[in-house]
Amino acid sequence: MKSFAALCAFGAAIAPTFAGVAPRQQSKGSLPPVTVRGNAFYAGDKRFYMRGVAYQPGGASDAKDPLLDLESLRRDVKNFKDLGINTIRIYTIDNSENHDEGMKMLDDAGIYLALDANTPAYSLNRENATTLHQSYNDVYLQSVFATIDQFANYNNLLLFFSGNEVINAKNNTNAAPYIKAVTRDMKQYISNRHSRQIPVGYSAADVAEVIKQQALYFDCGTEDERADFFAFNDYSWCDKEDGLQTFEGAAWDRKVETYKNFPRPIFLSEHGCTEPKRQWGEVAALFSTKMSSVYSGGLAYEYTVEPNGFGIVDIKNGKIEPNGDFDLLKAAYAKAKDPSGDGGARMNGKASQCPPKDDDWEVTTTKLLAMPEGARKFMDDGAGEGPGLDGTDSSHWMGEPSTETAEPGSGQATRTPTGGAGPASTGGAEEGAAVMGAEVPMRFLGLIAASMVFGAALVF
Ligand SMILES: *[C@@H]1O[C@H](CO)[C@@H](O)[C@H](O)[C@H]1NC(C)=O
Ligand SMILES: *[C@@H]1O[C@H](CO)[C@@H](O)[C@H](O)[C@H]1NC(C)=O
Repeated sequence: MKSFAALCAFGAAIAPTFAGVAPRQQSKGSLPPVTVRGNAFYAGDKRFYMRGVAYQPGGASDAKDPLLDLESLRRDVKNFKDLGINTIRIYTIDNSENHDEGMKMLDDAGIYLALDANTPAYSLNRENATTLHQSYNDVYLQSVFATIDQFANYNNLLLFFSGNEVINAKNNTNAAPYIKAVTRDMKQYISNRHSRQIPVGYSAADVAEVIKQQALYFDCGTEDERADFFAFNDYSWCDKEDGLQTFEGAAWDRKVETYKNFPRPIFLSEHGCTEPKRQWGEVAALFSTKMSSVYSGGLAYEYTVEPNGFGIVDIKNGKIEPNGDFDLLKAAYAKAKDPSGDGGARMNGKASQCPPKDDDWEVTTTKLLAMPEGARKFMDDGAGEGPGLDGTDSSHWMGEPSTETAEPGSGQATRTPTGGAGPASTGGAEEGAAVMGAEVPMRFLGLIAASMVFGAALVF
């Protein structure tokens, strides 16, 4: 539902600093960190199901960091507790600011944060093959890594999204290798710089023709390239005027069948169809054993009423008023208990096979671009201060794009968080460096250009 296509107001010039300080490794907060095991999340030893809401007051077009507005956050956390949720999703934060107070408020309330690592000015630009290539650059990654540094030490940081709905139509599946490269780079940065394994994955738009391919594609290949989970935004359960949609009627039985062997956690990163009358019937299904062997809950879209009309609280004269949807969602959550035990979760699933190219899925190679050369220093030196929300649309073009293809495995850890040598079993820095130095096959860039459905041939 949200997209970062909107232009930002002009801001100050960006001058990132690259301080070589060791990362802070002390964890903050009292909630147990959530980990991925098999196809489920666990908080300690207990299976963790996301029951949450998307939280971005002001919407995507006027992105503000909701964790910095402490007065509003305090008011909203009361509502989160009233709703009975354990997670909020935030799409945009200011990575130049400290978030101790806001994150502690959430931690005290038993709430985790699922955080998008991109901002409107620091994200991939999917407009065409050239913009995709140029926007995957070192300046962009510096911002993403700075966001990781800001949040990695909070125990209640649940996961990072490496992208949201970048692929939003059949004709831009050519963005997939870039999303996967960013996911790989984020995972490598976390392994190299932080002692906790923080889940990283992608939040897909439910484009029916290419949703399954996305799940498989982001899960195939070598371990360093595989996302830790798959999530999608789903608006297919639309309750009727006079009653709830059914599990089969909404075709959610097929949603389970399709992914029954998927080896990693899956959840709905947005849900809440408003047509014709929203009653949140899907909540009962999501937390039932019909789904829990494959799905780990979801995030209701969204908290505040924005122009698109999905919110569950209205803001009037600075005051928040829960609307009817709030009460219905609260009732639905209260009724839907987590399944007992592990809910049918599975261990030891195998990596997916990469999906073949077809008329809809226009990705012709399993190779990824190497991390842009200018970003490699962040692995040793840290990302330094983030640019915050000061960027403009032109920030997309400030960095140097990648010029090389990577060999599978290029994203393995190259060091330990404390600065030691990389884990021996992975080949460490030497192998990584050799791989990075591979020659650029220009053919690869051509393949990506050619992978556009409607695009003309491109000359790089
Ligand atoms: C791609 O989009 C950019 C930005 O709008 C534009 O300048 C460029 O001409 C486009 N290239 C192609 C090949 O369409
Ligand atoms: C892709 O399709 C959408 C409509 O679904 C259209 O608006 C957009 O211009 C197309 N993009 C390209 C690059 O052809």
